[in-house]
Amino acid sequence: MNILDLFKKPAKSSVQPEASQLGGQEKPVNGAKPFVEGLVSVKDIIAPSALEVDFDHVRIDGKYYRTCFVAGYPRFVGLNWLSGLINFDASQRVAMYIYPTDGKEILDDLRRKIAEMEAEISTDVQRGKVVNPSTQAKLEDALTLQADLVRGEERFFQFGLYVTVEATTKDELNRMTKNLEAALGSIMLVSKKATLQMEEGFITTLPLCDDKLAISRNMDTTSLATTFPFVSSDLSDDKGIMYGINEHNGSLVIFDRFSMQNYNSVVFASAGAGKSYMIKLEAMRSLMFGTEIIVIDPENEYEVLAEAVGGQYIAFGFGENSKINPFDLSLTVEEGENTLNDKVLTLHKMFKIMLGAMDPMEESVLDRAVMEAYKAKGITPDPETQTREPPLVEDLYKALIGMENERAQNLAARMEKYIKGSFAGIFNQKTTVNLQNKFVVFGIRNLEESLRPVAMHIVLDYIWTVVKKELKKRILIVDEAWYLMQFEDSASFLRGIVKRGRKYYLGVTTITQDVDDFLQTPYGKEIVTNSSIQILLKQHSAAIDLIGSTFYLSEGEKQLLLTADKGEGIFFAGQNHVAIKVIASEEEHKLITSNPEEVMKNKKEFEMKLETKLQETKSQPTNLQVPNNFQETSSKLQTEVKVETKPPALGNFVEPKEEPKKEVKLEEGKSVSFKPVVEIEEPESEVESDLKKRIAIMEEEERLKITEHSKKITKENEEKEKEEKR
Ligand SMILES: Nc1ncnc2c1ncn2[C@@H]1O[C@H](COP(=O)(O)OP(=O)(O)OP(=O)(O)O)[C@@H](O)[C@H]1O
Ligand SMILES: [Mg+2]
Repeated sequence: MNILDLFKKPAKSSVQPEASQLGGQEKPVNGAKPFVEGLVSVKDIIAPSALEVDFDHVRIDGKYYRTCFVAGYPRFVGLNWLSGLINFDASQRVAMYIYPTDGKEILDDLRRKIAEMEAEISTDVQRGKVVNPSTQAKLEDALTLQADLVRGEERFFQFGLYVTVEATTKDELNRMTKNLEAALGSIMLVSKKATLQMEEGFITTLPLCDDKLAISRNMDTTSLATTFPFVSSDLSDDKGIMYGINEHNGSLVIFDRFSMQNYNSVVFASAGAGKSYMIKLEAMRSLMFGTEIIVIDPENEYEVLAEAVGGQYIAFGFGENSKINPFDLSLTVEEGENTLNDKVLTLHKMFKIMLGAMDPMEESVLDRAVMEAYKAKGITPDPETQTREPPLVEDLYKALIGMENERAQNLAARMEKYIKGSFAGIFNQKTTVNLQNKFVVFGIRNLEESLRPVAMHIVLDYIWTVVKKELKKRILIVDEAWYLMQFEDSASFLRGIVKRGRKYYLGVTTITQDVDDFLQTPYGKEIVTNSSIQILLKQHSAAIDLIGSTFYLSEGEKQLLLTADKGEGIFFAGQNHVAIKVIASEEEHKLITSNPEEVMKNKKEFEMKLETKLQETKSQPTNLQVPNNFQETSSKLQTEVKVETKPPALGNFVEPKEEPKKEVKLEEGKSVSFKPVVEIEEPESEVESDLKKRIAIMEEEERLKITEHSKKITKENEEKEKEEKR
């Protein structure tokens, strides 16, 4: 068949139609041209106007095509060995033809072949020659195949593989053919150009299932299965955020975690593999799409990011102002509901972490003491009373002391360090924390190591209460989650949040480097099975077997995780998974890196920027004016001290807030107000504090001037009035 035959119309009848039949029906009339032949069909429209068939290419509409066939295959192939061909970076058509073959014929052939090879070997042996190793190998293969075929474990097929490349110029076509041959060569395939059969080659690779070249090779079922090339999956949604680049085919991994059946994710990797980096990136990008972010940060890693996005950083520790009273009911209280019982249950879990394991007697003593502490503040199961000032840990301590029971005294002694001892003043205070931002970080690095699990539990409890109160799209990031997994109660609490978060539109991200410990607890396993997204970055060889069996990884995937670079790993989203490389823009990198060298460099850069700004500010006079004719204008006067300073991209400046105006009283109805335009946040560098002082001095000077002026005016007015009276 010729290519143009594909587009050919049926042969024309030699007899001319009669005039009367032309306008008639489609029905062919004997000896007349049917009407339908005169119509324009789809084929007429899509057929190329010309087609040139050369000995080593075909040219259609200015495009060159060349077909290659595969003549030699490797002896051994691995899984997905043809992916190199599919991911070959060029426009190409790949055709695979699979012909099932009758087993009996093959067995007859095989028997003959085996007999031939055995004869060859025995002749060599008789003549005292060295046996040809390749014949030996072939014989072994044939025997194995024969056994498999006889047992019905394998079936037999013929397999043909053809590739047509496409280019706009002949030079490009030559170059692409060479690249293709090299790519095929790298997977041990011997390819040949279908010289003088280009037309047949072209048709063979069209989706017509017409093998004109018929160059095939024997294959059994297992080998054939490995030729299936589409194992790299795409994870490119049309909405969501970018997580990184798909390492199989260079496509983008764009994904919306809120489109899954639950919104949770887990991240496992060894230290320094890029877990926090990836999650910070996700947080920053999700924030741009209106998702609120809450982070529990045991390493002060998220502070720079929180500042840069205008977030709220709540630090816990000695000398810090942020406090959470675990007894606080103010958030949980709902109109007409008794939340005291729930609170007492949560407190039990918390005290088990604080005080260590308790026997049932101790638990009941604690229960009574907690109720008493609430009662002492007038809080009872009656919801009306639950808005009153809650007790502190100290009040519970007093209640225990007052119980005069050995177990109570024992509990009180264990609690003492949180009230009087080394950990006093951290949780034994009124709640001062208030979440009012879209990006909130709870920093607990300044706490003593043994206090961190307690703090994480209290913070988690607080966050959970806030989350339940108001439905919003939120992500909660628990970095270094192994702190929580050490204690059964906090582990089960985290598991509870992960399980129930979906109902409150909350996605929990659990990050941990201690894979072994995490997965060996039943709670850890439940967290993994309740997380639709699972991210595995570089793994340690000691942990890889457990990871492999938990996530059903293939040997190749395990190898990938062992040799992965920073930010490289496997991204699981439901049923799909891809090899991923996390990439950030330069600006993003500055905000999320935890490399100390880069952090210091960024800090220096920021200070230099600030100094230049300060120099500029010094050289510019402030535009404060106090008019001479003060008396006439004083009733409407609004003087603003304005220092034009734009917030730098990376730094501590925040958007000017609408502040209450500081007023200087003159007379009734006459006032002068100052509106601070720049606000500078803690922590202050020398340069910043200098700037702040200068502004304060200027304000003070102007205020004095105006006060003096106003006094003078008041005096003059009084004198005038006196004169008028006189
Ligand atoms: N995708 C990436 N591209 C470039 N640098 C990266 C990438 N991922 C991580 N890094 C760098 O690697 C370092 C370690 O990253 P990160 O702090 O995220 O590690 P981690 O896995 O959270 O470690 P740890 O368990 O100790 O907290 C950082 O300095 C970061 O800048
Ligand atoms: Mg980290």
